[in-house]
Amino acid sequence: MSTVNTMRAISQRALGGPEVLEVIEVERPEPRPNQVLVRVRAAGLNPTDWKHRATGGFLGEPPFVLGWDVSGVVEAVGIGVATFKPGDEVFGMLPYPWGHGSHAEYVIAPVRALTHKPSSIDHTQAGALPLVSLTAWQALVENAELRPGQRVLIHAAAGGVGHVAVQIANARGAHVIGTASAGKHDFLRQLGADEVIDYRDTDFIEAVKDVDVVLDTLGGETSVRSLRVLRPGGIVVSILPVGSDEFGEEAERLGVRAVRMLVDADRAGMNAIAELVEKGELRPTIAGTFPLADAAEAHALGDTGRTKGKLVLVVD
Ligand SMILES: NC(=O)c1ccc[n+]([C@@H]2O[C@H](COP(=O)([O-])OP(=O)(O)OC[C@H]3O[C@@H](n4cnc5c(N)ncnc54)[C@H](OP(=O)(O)O)[C@@H]3O)[C@@H](O)[C@H]2O)c1
Repeated sequence: MSTVNTMRAISQRALGGPEVLEVIEVERPEPRPNQVLVRVRAAGLNPTDWKHRATGGFLGEPPFVLGWDVSGVVEAVGIGVATFKPGDEVFGMLPYPWGHGSHAEYVIAPVRALTHKPSSIDHTQAGALPLVSLTAWQALVENAELRPGQRVLIHAAAGGVGHVAVQIANARGAHVIGTASAGKHDFLRQLGADEVIDYRDTDFIEAVKDVDVVLDTLGGETSVRSLRVLRPGGIVVSILPVGSDEFGEEAERLGVRAVRMLVDADRAGMNAIAELVEKGELRPTIAGTFPLADAAEAHALGDTGRTKGKLVLVVD
């Protein structure tokens, strides 16, 4: 356990596999104006954590502490923070990509990244939600403006983003089609999927058509091929933001829209997510929880790309 002025965090001195992760003891930060110091109770893990651990990504060379999801208790507030006070239970996504650092006992968050944690879920559930829910919300609602009755195709629907996207699309009254391996089809139906496709034995292009919105969580050729299942004016929102020009060019040729996006920290989106939780329309599925010290184990599991729902670090 750390002392009064220090905290434990998961850091790395080199890029590489899960084994580069180590527990370090560092000084506990102080909130500056418009910042909140959160005592972390739970912090979700996301593919961007494994990608940054291995490649440095947007963050460059280590050392750094990963983690963008946070659920916890306000420990202290900086000058000017009127929205929260010490003791408040909050959750949110730290600004992506440079606001990282929630895989630790405490983290600094800009006040606008947080909202009040819904009382109907615990910290583990709340810590699982922010990044994937904001991604799904910004893709389906803000970019695609998904409406009741529209047909939406969600790739990798059993994954972190996908399983939340299915619920958000269902709550908006859309007709939801999801891809997953056969063993996860019951799970998708329970979440509200109307149709399921086993991507291992069925090419989605053969199985669906006249789609209004595709959420592309796979990238590569899936982005371009997804354009071909749209009805005129439909949209593919890809959350794999780097790719060839072919995506845009093919969209123009077909008379459809192609968008690539990165999730963006946002309290309005977090409030919308909290409201869905309060209405009972959104719940994360927890694939596994790990204490901070076992972060490497969680990364190794996440690295497989096969998890159903979310992995979460739980901090005592
Ligand atoms: N742009 C952004 O802001 C943003 C935000 C969030 C995530 N992302 C990216 O989006 C991707 C998905 O994130 P995530 O958190 O949902 O990942 P995840 O939780 O690791 O996804 C795991 C799921 O993917 C499924 N899957 C793997 N290959 C598949 C395929 N070919 N077709 C259908 N399903 C497949 C697996 O199901 P099976 O076992 O059935 O195969 C598994 O349930 C990652 O690359 C992540 O970095 C980007």
